[in-house]
Amino acid sequence: MKIIMLGAPGAGKGTQAERITAKYNIPHISTGDIFRANIRDNTPLGKKAKSYMDKGELVPDELTCDLVTDRISKDDCKDGYILDGFPRTIAQAEALDKALEKRGESIDFAIDIEVPDEEIVHRMQGRRFCPKCGATYHIESLKPKVEGICDKCGTELILRDDDKPETVKHRLSVYHEQTQPLVDYFEKKGVLKKINGTIGLENVTAEISKVLG
Ligand code: AP5
Ligand code: MG
Repeated sequence: MKIIMLGAPGAGKGTQAERITAKYNIPHISTGDIFRANIRDNTPLGKKAKSYMDKGELVPDELTCDLVTDRISKDDCKDGYILDGFPRTIAQAEALDKALEKRGESIDFAIDIEVPDEEIVHRMQGRRFCPKCGATYHIESLKPKVEGICDKCGTELILRDDDKPETVKHRLSVYHEQTQPLVDYFEKKGVLKKINGTIGLENVTAEISKVLG
């Protein structure tokens, strides 16, 4: 099962991908998480990615496409995977298509989680992030057991650097300009599934489960 999570920043891609990965036992591949881990470890890729991410811009396709096409060729991806935050441009989608075609494969589902911009801006102010293990929480809709502390590793939770309201607004405009065209792209391929992302976390999970069967 090869799944792509589409949707604006903060639509819930990562949260839902975590649940699908647990249910179907396929890897969750988030380009944002990969870049954040590289920033944390101060790698050359992390240094390059940080300058774009802090501004809410996309990391250039040259740094992103090979990273993903290499990752999905690994052994643990042979039964499928969930791509979260990739592709994000038409060029990335075409690079992915090319890599899949070579192996006679194709994407099964592109799940577009729809949330209006006003709700996103509000939601992002409440997101909390674990800088050590990458787990994500929300002060209203997904509280950790102990306020401000990661359930999984006990680290103090922080706000993501790119969750400041001005940066969120810029990320949304980048999304509408560069990523939203992918909705049509996957609709034409017949794999697009639209999900209302405003109905509460558990209901969104249930709707996605219905689609995946
Ligand atoms: P990335 O990490 O992918 O960020 P994003 O796409 O902007 O999305 P987010 O992770 O912010 O949101 P999400 O949809 O995962 O929502 P979440 O589940 O956390 O990318 C970051 C940056 O990296 C980019 O800006 C770019 O610079 C770079 N990058 C990454 N991939 C790239 C690529 N392919 N090409 C180029 N550059 C790339 O949920 C949000 C919050 O809401 C959480 O607190 C959650 O608990 C809560 N929540 C979730 N669902 C619900 C619900 N239904 N109701 C209420 N609350 C909810
Ligand atoms: Mg995410």
